[in-house]
Amino acid sequence: MSKLVLRNVSRSFGDFAAVDDLNLTIEEGELVSLLGPSGCGKTTTLRMMAGFLSPTAGTIEVAGKVVSSPGSTLPPERRNMSMIFQSYAIWPNMTVAENVGFGLKIRKTPAAEARRRVDEILEVVRLGALRDRYPAELSGGQQQRVALARSIVVKPAVLLLDEPLSNLDANLREEMRFEIRRLHDEFRITMVYVTHDQAEAMVTSDRIAVMNKGRIEQIDSPYELYCRPKTGFVAGFIGRTNFLEGARRGDRVDFGGFSLPVATLGSEAPTRTATPPVAADANGATNGSGASDARVRVSVRPQCIQLHRTQPSAADHRFCVPARIERRAYLGESWDYHVGMPGLQEPLRVAARPQEVFEVDDEVFAEIDTSQVTVID
Ligand SMILES: Nc1ncnc2c1ncn2[C@@H]1O[C@H](COP(=O)(O)OP(=O)(O)O)[C@@H](O)[C@H]1O
Ligand SMILES: [Mg+2]
Repeated sequence: MSKLVLRNVSRSFGDFAAVDDLNLTIEEGELVSLLGPSGCGKTTTLRMMAGFLSPTAGTIEVAGKVVSSPGSTLPPERRNMSMIFQSYAIWPNMTVAENVGFGLKIRKTPAAEARRRVDEILEVVRLGALRDRYPAELSGGQQQRVALARSIVVKPAVLLLDEPLSNLDANLREEMRFEIRRLHDEFRITMVYVTHDQAEAMVTSDRIAVMNKGRIEQIDSPYELYCRPKTGFVAGFIGRTNFLEGARRGDRVDFGGFSLPVATLGSEAPTRTATPPVAADANGATNGSGASDARVRVSVRPQCIQLHRTQPSAADHRFCVPARIERRAYLGESWDYHVGMPGLQEPLRVAARPQEVFEVDDEVFAEIDTSQVTVID
């Protein structure tokens, strides 16, 4: 049975729909993040899960039991969930161990057992040696670990985290992402993780629900989201990408100065054909055998284009287009080239390895890995 199920959940404030007909199923032991820009409804969704807020439509179920509906909402203290907020407020007048043990105390856990569980969790979050310190004597990361330990020690059915790392500096944030994933793996807690940071979501999550304007645009594994974005919003929000607009002409998509065969686009496991596909025709559109003229929008990641000085021979699902370097920036780990291609209004961004050096105005061949090109709605 699924752990947490949101069915057609909406929440309006006045006539503004902050969350709009959301459907989401989270399995036992899964870590799912809600990822989206500020104001898209992440916190509102989380607060409904926790019971701080009622939905204006729809239901929320935990382990098959309805806990929220417009008419009745089980209060937070009866949901066996823990929530960690942006400001993870630990009590300044309590030691680390007292902070962590507080939830057990109010649940009237016997002292010996409480002590054992607090010790255990402090070891896991590597705070054993600091158990008698006060929050003011801890670094930001250590305080964040106290908040995590305090939420986990009570063995919540679901742990909800709302941008828990946003008050930490960049290095610490990166370290804590792995820490949160490690804690999840160790305790297998069902977790919902809210963030606007795509890298954070990708490191921590089994699946990511990408939210936009109160709705989920796509929910998938980090790999699928990156490689198979279904909408332009998702393609642009998860990593960098190039958008191209073309017209469907027969079995090809025509981009003005070159065209690509529809069948190869986004086909991760290309079937080998007897005759290898020919290189894209730089002179423009191919035959339009009874073609519809439908517009097609595709996303091409900067690292799915490779630049060559001379034209390579055609290989399966790789297509070469003459191009010109218009701008370049050296980023240390890679080159960021802006490459003009026939028929395109905007140059394409190409990420190349540091040793692949081209000068501005160089005439090159841009090889597009069509299996990595995705057609989006
Ligand atoms: N109590 C409230 N009253 C009115 N509007 C609200 C309230 N809470 C949230 N909103 C609005 O709902 C939208 C979503 O907010 P929120 O869920 O906090 O977004 P996020 O967490 O994704 O940044 C925002 O436009 C916000 O202004
Ligand atoms: Mg928020």
